Amino acid sequence: AFNLKNRHFLTLLDFTPDEIDFLLRLAGDLKRARYAGMEQPRLKGRNIVLIFEKDSTRTRCAFETAAWDQGANVTYLGPSGSQMGKKESLKDTARVLGRMYDGIEYRGFAQEAVETLARYAGVPVWNGLTNEFHPTQVLADLMTMTEHCDKPLRRMALAYLGDARNNMGNSLLVGAAKMGLDFRAVAPRSLQPSPALVGKARDIAAGTGARITITDQVEAGVRGCDFLYTDVWVSMGEPDEVWQERVDLLKPYQVNADVMAMTGNTDTRFLHCLPAFHNRDTAVGEAIYRKFGIPAMEVTDDVFESRASVVFDQAENRVHTIKAVMVATLGA
Ligand code: CP
Ligand code: NVA
Repeated sequence: AFNLKNRHFLTLLDFTPDEIDFLLRLAGDLKRARYAGMEQPRLKGRNIVLIFEKDSTRTRCAFETAAWDQGANVTYLGPSGSQMGKKESLKDTARVLGRMYDGIEYRGFAQEAVETLARYAGVPVWNGLTNEFHPTQVLADLMTMTEHCDKPLRRMALAYLGDARNNMGNSLLVGAAKMGLDFRAVAPRSLQPSPALVGKARDIAAGTGARITITDQVEAGVRGCDFLYTDVWVSMGEPDEVWQERVDLLKPYQVNADVMAMTGNTDTRFLHCLPAFHNRDTAVGEAIYRKFGIPAMEVTDDVFESRASVVFDQAENRVHTIKAVMVATLGA
């Protein structure tokens, strides 16, 4: 077996394909044990702190429920309420929390921040999303894909449409390269992943057999895909002013029924990390509708609500995969 004890979980770049596969299998074992009512608490008496400098529903709740299921105790530090980043540096906060907790989750802005925490905490640090990467999400996505497609990951084709240089675009590129997928980033040129990261992904792909395509052509990009994935066009921390430019650039990359049909595959599934702008049911969705006159952004409501959509399985799998990360890095 693989020993990931005391490792940080900052980006999938730091993990081998076998280690990622190990985490996915462990997540599957933990999920089955939970469903069977046979879960063994392997984090009894452990203390875990969750730091969120940005909002969250899934990541926070998945870390909390996973920790409780495993017998650990949890503290939540939100965007306000602690000294961190105001009166106290990250470096000092890391050394303080490392004296009290066995593991630290961090969601924030720069990837450098989570790396600083990891450098000084002395205990495992898990990346719960930065501007650059969202690695726990990709574990849940890969798990969901294996549940909804009979092929092994290395035979699956996945297209990600939209802002392909945000945290999801970057992390899916890395995860797909590691696990040997046929991956297509389908985005206008200015929203394609950086040449530096694409270079790293291509190096990884050379060893895993992954195929990496970066294209602005929707039809060719999605052809033959088992999965279409998209994410919000404007991410947390970006200014509201970028909406206009993103809508103009990304409208042709919206996942709608026509794009689903372009895959030429009748059982293509739809993936989204959530939250999603697919209707006017939220204050933000309504404001966008008033401003731009379109009732949905990155995915239409009919696709989101269709049988092809496995987005709530992804959300549930956040718990099982995050649990696997905590158990693997801390567990007895
Ligand atoms: N997908 C995801 O990370 O969702 P939250 O922002 O709700 O945690
Ligand atoms: N790209 C999105 C992902 C949310 C889970 C954001 O950073 O806001």
